Amino acid sequence: MSKLKVGIIGCGAIGTEIAKACQGRLKDKIGLAGICDIDESKTRALNKALAKNVPVLNLEDIIKNSGLIVEAASAAMSASVLEKCIDAGRDCLMMSVGGLLGREELLQKAKEKSIRVYIPSGAICGIDGLKSASIGKIDSVTLTTRKPPKGLAGAPYLKEKNIDVLSIKEEKTIFEGSAEEAVKGFPQNVNVSAVLSLAGVGAKKTRVKIVTSPAYTANIHEIEIAGEFGRIVTRSENLPSKANPKTSALAIFSAIATLEGIASSVRIGT
Ligand SMILES: NC(=O)c1ccc[n+]([C@@H]2O[C@H](COP(=O)([O-])OP(=O)(O)OC[C@H]3O[C@@H](n4cnc5c(N)ncnc54)[C@H](O)[C@@H]3O)[C@@H](O)[C@H]2O)c1
Repeated sequence: MSKLKVGIIGCGAIGTEIAKACQGRLKDKIGLAGICDIDESKTRALNKALAKNVPVLNLEDIIKNSGLIVEAASAAMSASVLEKCIDAGRDCLMMSVGGLLGREELLQKAKEKSIRVYIPSGAICGIDGLKSASIGKIDSVTLTTRKPPKGLAGAPYLKEKNIDVLSIKEEKTIFEGSAEEAVKGFPQNVNVSAVLSLAGVGAKKTRVKIVTSPAYTANIHEIEIAGEFGRIVTRSENLPSKANPKTSALAIFSAIATLEGIASSVRIGT
């Protein structure tokens, strides 16, 4: 069987580890068609870190030359990458999921054209249960994110509300609202709430609470789902990746596990 040719857009924390996995644990089933980044130093550093050099391609060529595109760049461009993949008839794995909220019609377009769009669970657990629960009636989906103040600093919502997050001394809830509002106020946390929204009841109905405390040492995501099936509660205590403290190690692993699933004939879990 010929190998799946993967092209990676974005050679940061996630793209780098995916590329290494393609030449490591996934090497029998996946080959790298190319890598792409707006920052030349990133593609250079990645090629240095890889066992075998990979072609550095621009956006158009990487889509043309790959069987599956991995987007691990930015929410500002993820919708346009998906659009280009659909037009070119390419499957894709999307990491900057926040950029797809408000552009859900693209997922419908992909369905109509039989393009496979893979959205890994990322830094949260419970997407499997949420998908199963969605077959019946769901009453509520709530995400509670707990992050140390440093992990939230600079968010537009904090600026707008004049909240100096770094001066907070004890545990404090700083935001409660819909995933749609969370996406705008905390773009760094959108991916988790965006994945949850797309898998469940949408960005308007998914509730998000953000809590901070200087005592926190991990990024903690708790999910509560209630519905016809009963109730699910999950909690992930995520350590940050070494390369990018904003990205959880589990999010990187989930992208690699998704790729492994795509290339495998055995599928475990919903
Ligand atoms: N789905 C999830 O659970 C999840 C979790 C963490 C991060 N993310 C998202 O995944 C993306 C990558 O995360 P990361 O930690 O690797 O980030 P990173 O900052 O380490 O790397 C991003 C890379 O993309 C490049 N880039 C930015 N804009 C680009 C463009 N227009 N064209 C080509 N390259 C471009 C940057 O130069 C950088 O090298 C981010 O959007 C992040 O928010 C998703």
